[in-house]
Amino acid sequence: MSWRTRSNLTWLRGLPALKEGEPLASRTSFGIGGPAEFFLELGRPESIAKAIEGCCARTIPYLLLGAGTNLLIADRGVEGLVLRVVNRDHHIDGTRVRAGAGLKMMRLARIVADANLRGFEFAIGVPGTVGGAVYQDAGCWGRELREVLVEVEGFTPGRGLQRWSPGDLRLGYRTSALREGPLHGSLVVSATVRLERGDGEEARQLMARLTRERNETQPIKTKNCGSVFKNPAGDSAGRLVQAAGLKGAREGAAVVSELHGNFIVNEGGATAADVKRLIERVMAEVKRRFGAQLETEVEMVGRWK
Ligand code: EPU
Repeated sequence: MSWRTRSNLTWLRGLPALKEGEPLASRTSFGIGGPAEFFLELGRPESIAKAIEGCCARTIPYLLLGAGTNLLIADRGVEGLVLRVVNRDHHIDGTRVRAGAGLKMMRLARIVADANLRGFEFAIGVPGTVGGAVYQDAGCWGRELREVLVEVEGFTPGRGLQRWSPGDLRLGYRTSALREGPLHGSLVVSATVRLERGDGEEARQLMARLTRERNETQPIKTKNCGSVFKNPAGDSAGRLVQAAGLKGAREGAAVVSELHGNFIVNEGGATAADVKRLIERVMAEVKRRFGAQLETEVEMVGRWK
């Protein structure tokens, strides 16, 4: 039976500031994807928790959206409710920093440097939000969030507000219990990291150098979703794609970046189907040439079938 009953639709339409058929492409770094059937932007954790509880009680599908930097949304959009989490507060207590899930990692990197804290410079290379970074243990330059994370506040439907240790979250290279484990469907409200006291100017200089480096090696000014594939153990997806001669390979307006083989660029007007076809082609060719099975890092969501 469909969840779209009269009473469920009445409940959804009663949510304050609910939008219907909201375009999502512009809310992703790829600039791709169809609309959200229902869409809500919420900052207060209690309101987000209430909306999720309501969806669970009514079996209404929901998707949590942060900065949309690691998503490929289907051309036919997303069924049910898309909740964009926008709590962006932060609190610094000595070397402990608590940040709202909706705060951008890059913004937090600058905030903590200005507070003369070190050890978070890698976050200047992480495009998404704090919530998204917890969800997949985001990282850059060989460093990952789990190295500085001490606690996460979150919400699990039916169990209310929770505090999770990094162990509870089972963080690993681009994964966690939130992304593929017992906490799937739970929401990150805030994350606390422990950093070190140091010289903010040095932190800013390091971040400027790392950003220049990233600019030279990744197509960061284009519409993309960051790394498309996870690196296979001991190897690099970008290297494999390049060695397979796939740089510049194209499906519609989706192109494998000439600068970095693990990036697909939307040249303008690419569809999710174009990107999916290109991903499948790259995977098949890398498998055929080198026997290596690439796994996607980008998450495909929405109505693909
Ligand atoms: N390489 C090639 N050809 C290419 C690209 C890379 O031969 O087209 C080689 C490089 O020369 C290097 C190796 O592959 O020897 C690794 O490349 P790179 O240093 O660019 O890093 P990466 O492993 O491709 C990872 C993260 C990035 C992060 C960078 C920088 C993954 C999947 N990607 O990329 O994260 O920015 O390191 O630290 O782990 C993301 O997750 O979205 C992301 C962009």
